[in-house]
Parts: sequence; C-alpha cells; structure tokens
Amino acid sequence: MSSDNSTSEMMKHYADADESSRLRHGWFQLEQARTQELILRHLPPPPATVVDAGGGAGAYACWLAARGYQVHLIDPVPKHVEQARAASARQSHSPLASAEVGDARHLPFADGSADVVLLLGPLYHLVEREDRLACLREAHRVLRPGGMAWGAGISHFASLLDSLAHGFFDDPMFAPILARDLEDGQHRNPTDNPIYFTDAYFHRPGELSCDFLGAGFQVVEIVAIEGPGWLARDFDRLWSDPAQRERVLAAVRKVEREPSILGASSHIMAIGRK
Ligand SMILES: C[S@@+](CC[C@H](N)C(=O)[O-])C[C@H]1O[C@@H](n2cnc3c(N)ncnc32)[C@H](O)[C@@H]1O
Repeated sequence: MSSDNSTSEMMKHYADADESSRLRHGWFQLEQARTQELILRHLPPPPATVVDAGGGAGAYACWLAARGYQVHLIDPVPKHVEQARAASARQSHSPLASAEVGDARHLPFADGSADVVLLLGPLYHLVEREDRLACLREAHRVLRPGGMAWGAGISHFASLLDSLAHGFFDDPMFAPILARDLEDGQHRNPTDNPIYFTDAYFHRPGELSCDFLGAGFQVVEIVAIEGPGWLARDFDRLWSDPAQRERVLAAVRKVEREPSILGASSHIMAIGRK
C-alpha cells in the first residue's frame, strides 16, 4: 500500500477516534504519565522553543506551554489542530505559540530555531522508512546544535501482546493483521474496527535507534514507555490506587532499559541529541 493510501486510511481513522480524550482512559494514562516523565528527564529549562510535530489534540503541547515553553504544534489532521487550539484557548495565560495543519516531513520552521522536537505519532504513522527518515531529518534541521528530539514508536510485538492480554487474539478478523505485524512490522487494518488502529509501522527497538542515527542524531536513550505495565490485569484498579500506581510506575522504570523486555512495551521512546 502506498503512503498516500496510508495517509487517507489514517485520516478516516481519526475522523472517528477521539484523540482529545484518549489519554484519560485505561492504560493510556500510563502512556501519558511515562511520556511526561521521559520528556522531563532531558528537557531544558523554560523558556525554550518546542516543536510538537504530530501533536494531535495538544495533550503534551498544552502541558509544556503551561510550564513556560514556547510551543508550536503541527498535525495533518485538521480536527486535531482545532482541538489543540481549543485546549490552548482554555489556558489563556499560557497558550500555544501556534497550532497549524502540517506534516512532520516538511516543518515550517527555520534551521536551528528549536530547542526541542517531539515526534509522538509520525514515526509509527509513516509506513515507509524513507518518510520516517525525512521526518527525523527535518527535526534535526530545525533543532539548534545540542537540541533534543523525542520520538515514539509502537513495538513490533504490540499487536501480539495486546490481543492476548485484551481478549481479541481469537478474532479471525485480527489474525491476518497480527500475522503481518509479526512478519514485517507493517500494520494494516482492513476491518472497520477502530480498536485495530490504522495503517502504521511497528518498530523493533533497535530499528528506532537506527532511524535516529540515520538522521544524524546521537541516541541518548532508548526506553520503554509503558514497559509491561499496559498489560496489567485490572489496570484501572491499580491506577486508581495512588500507592499501587506508584508501584506500577516504579516497576516500569526499573525495567525501562532492559533489552530483553523492551519490545513488550506498547510504545518505545528514542531520545536523541543533535
Ligand atoms: C496517536 S496520535 C498521538 C498524538 C499525541 N502526539 C500524543 O502522543 O498523544 C498520532 C498523531 O500523529 C499525527 N501524524 C500522523 N502522521 C503525521 C505526519 N506525517 N506528520 C505529523 N503528524 C502526523 C496524527 O495526525 C496524530 O495526531
């Protein structure tokens, strides 16, 4: 399937899916907590300029703007940009610097103009490696020397673990999707079930490092975002108890760099320096 077809599949997917509320539900709350933790670990102090390319409805962009950063969000889905603008308007003392429709492969920013680039979406939505590299090269171009990029990938093994843990392994409609994921990492969803996501590329952890290195970054860290925590039975019960939530986070942190378990995370984060 061409990347143009994949882009139109993605547009159809997000017409139905609600990105503006996703991170408030189930294990996505772990994704958000850990993503924030991994960003804060290497983030320069404010004021600094952040480009959130693939920023969706603005969850991380607005969070960073509220912490004093100058944040520019771009996303190819107009609905997401509208949602990000609305979220920005709700924090009138710390709005986004800008929110525009755009593509991470062609960033509308000058060379060396950003301190931070977030790519929390484009690297799995772009199914061709050349497109993923184009987007990482753009991130590299707009960063100042020493600037940092965060790139999220979805694990090559995510569909296997998700289907086993969350009860759809035996759906005959899912079997061919899983088989292809495990074969070549190319995720395609010909069903109309949005739970099975949309066209995407699912990385092995080492491939994500290679992509960053290929675009000229030094790799600072490759870490699991959720680790095995997203597979927890009764996730909501654990997460709603503050002590158990801390135990989940501590356990995930403990194994976040363990090579033998990295691929068990739903998402993997590469952090690179220009
Ligand atoms: C699952 S959402 C994640 C949104 C947000 N970054 C987060 O982590 O919650 C993935 C986002 O990547 C965006 N995206 C996909 N392809 C892109 C591209 N080529 N350039 C920029 N953004 C892209 C999608 O429109 C979508 O908003």
